[in-house]
Amino acid sequence: KTDIKVDSLLKLMSLEEKVGQMTQLTLNKVFRTKEITEHTVIPKKNLENSIVKYNIGSVLNSVNHALEAGAWRNVITQLQNATKKTPHNIPVLYGIDAIHGAGYTLNATLFPHNIGMAATRNDALVKQAAQITAKEVRASGIRWNFDPVLDVGRQQLWSRFPETFGEDVTLVTNMGIETIKGYEGDDLKSVNSVASCMKHFVGYSAPKSGKDRTPAYLSDIELWEYYLPQFKAAVNAGAATIMINSGTLNGVPGHANEYLLKTVLRDQFKFKGVAVSDWEDIIRLHTKHKIAKTPKEAVKIAVNAGIDMSMVPSNYSFYHLLIELVNAGEVSMQRIDEAVGRILKLKFDLGLFDNPYPEKEAIDLFGQESYKNAALEAARESVTLLKNTDHILPLSKNKKVLVMGPGANSHACLNGCWSYTWQGQREDLYPEQEVTIVQAIQEKIGTKNVIDGSFSDFKNPKNFKTDLINKNAKNADYIVLCLGENAYAESPGSIDDLTLDANQIELAKAAIETGKPVILVMTEGRPRIVSSFVDNIAGVLQAYWPGSQGANAIADVLFGDYNPNGILPYTYPRATGDLLTYDHKFSETHKDLKGNKPAVFYPQWEFGFGLSYTTFSFGEIQVSSKEIQGNETIKISISVTNSGKRDGKKAIELYSKDEYASIAPSVKRLRKYKKIALKAGETKTVTFQLNAKDMSFVNQQLQRVTEPGNFRLIIGNKQTVINYVK
Ligand code: IFM
Repeated sequence: KTDIKVDSLLKLMSLEEKVGQMTQLTLNKVFRTKEITEHTVIPKKNLENSIVKYNIGSVLNSVNHALEAGAWRNVITQLQNATKKTPHNIPVLYGIDAIHGAGYTLNATLFPHNIGMAATRNDALVKQAAQITAKEVRASGIRWNFDPVLDVGRQQLWSRFPETFGEDVTLVTNMGIETIKGYEGDDLKSVNSVASCMKHFVGYSAPKSGKDRTPAYLSDIELWEYYLPQFKAAVNAGAATIMINSGTLNGVPGHANEYLLKTVLRDQFKFKGVAVSDWEDIIRLHTKHKIAKTPKEAVKIAVNAGIDMSMVPSNYSFYHLLIELVNAGEVSMQRIDEAVGRILKLKFDLGLFDNPYPEKEAIDLFGQESYKNAALEAARESVTLLKNTDHILPLSKNKKVLVMGPGANSHACLNGCWSYTWQGQREDLYPEQEVTIVQAIQEKIGTKNVIDGSFSDFKNPKNFKTDLINKNAKNADYIVLCLGENAYAESPGSIDDLTLDANQIELAKAAIETGKPVILVMTEGRPRIVSSFVDNIAGVLQAYWPGSQGANAIADVLFGDYNPNGILPYTYPRATGDLLTYDHKFSETHKDLKGNKPAVFYPQWEFGFGLSYTTFSFGEIQVSSKEIQGNETIKISISVTNSGKRDGKKAIELYSKDEYASIAPSVKRLRKYKKIALKAGETKTVTFQLNAKDMSFVNQQLQRVTEPGNFRLIIGNKQTVINYVK
């Protein structure tokens, strides 16, 4: 039915209108107004210039900083009003980055970034976070979210690493799909739903230099093994739109890669939705990538390669050039209709033609009390206890604690990027009731027990005084040292070295020198190397960028009101020259000549590592059959007992190890995971379903295969071997 509506509309539209639909402008460009409130009236002339004159199909992003939800609705209303003066009243589709909550709206619920969500190993929590985000986005009148990031995080230097679900493709795939389901629900028309945008297709996360938007080189096997499966699965899950990689992959810019955009995405994966460019990336085919001699050639290459919508074209050049190209027969009308047809279909699916305005039923869904609890629960489940010498944690609430470090009194290092601003660093925009780590600890144990040694300066190297630290420490029983990374996004977050900043290392050493036990709390998007001092630290908590409830979650864990259960979604490196993923090859680990220490791969903490305040023990692995034949599925079970004194949750992971294969197998691969809750003393049986496909890999012919033979299955400290027969 929608297809018929789309076809009839297409027949009525002029080429100019169609090309307008393919154009996406920033809000600044349309409004040219910085301060927008619920009552701001946008100059008519500005709206007429873009929406009416050019029939712009889509608008994106925020002004300089987040607006109240009401101000957003005001913006959307005025945009949609303007479309009433266009020939066919086609509503505008507004797109936004709500990547860990609706961070472009003041007072929105901010969840941990994906890297923290991955540490929860809790798919249901991921879906719930996406559902809440969808509601808050729709409540602000917006129906398109540029998320989820499906890029796998295997290059830890990359400044968008925190936006990934970590280094494992199964984790990225499962959590990516849950996010899409959470955003889109069963029906895009529902006030609970927004369209998702899987991004960035493909290879964006693997820049060789580690710097954002720089070239990636991936072998075909790597591409099909680690970078493409999540997109295929997301297409199957119904993702409505896709955003394209800004960089080059093996020398070919994402926006010009006809093979990936057509053969793989459309022909093989059968994706039917809208492909939107990333920011100014069409013109960059000319200015940056130098594959197009002119801006016009850039437009021709990108549109012919399969880009349906141009995000932020410079001025209106995309619009004018594309019209010229169609008139000259260099871009076919059929290609234009295909692109515009997809855009119109999405607008129909989202109910924009029925009611383009912010919906009354959606408005109440913003900022409900229960969201805060969901954000707290997600943050708690993400916090990962990496070290706990002599059970120093949890700390007593009756002792004195010196809380210090640049992360102690900062919101930015809890929320990271895309939080009220793109770079997430505006401390003044955070709601009053949202606390920092030192404030959360004060609330928890009383101000009299907290010595506030906080300072929020991540930049200035010598901004601490050793004398003051010593003086403060004299009166303290423990030091809680808050280090890590301030917020950053995209290129401004590029670094040369994963080693923690020198000033923070000095600070850590000064804290250690006091002789008081030091608990390190890391809030960071990437694993910053701490090996030069961490042996002298008693306890380590990794909190990632945990979002608006992050400080409360950290305090809960520090003082024992919550038993930590997050586990690492990446391999935490010990040295800059030793950056490997957990699923490396066997030849990348060997013993050194003198002893037992692996000489090659020796991480600080392994992928999947995370401690608890209780202990768990595993029974033997039970299999319903020692053999998998053909397509059959077997059951793998294990009993897990909480053998300690505290209730707790535990992520149970099933890895497989292909003993021999036609291409060098990985030492192990994560295949399944489940999060369970166990009361002290309780035992539960966890069962996984496993088939041959689950243990497949991409071979030299780029086929996904499972080769007959033995597979070792590993859960916790238990192992068993099964056999696959074709
Ligand atoms: O969605 C983002 C993308 O991830 C990076 N460039 C800008 C887009 C829109 O804000």
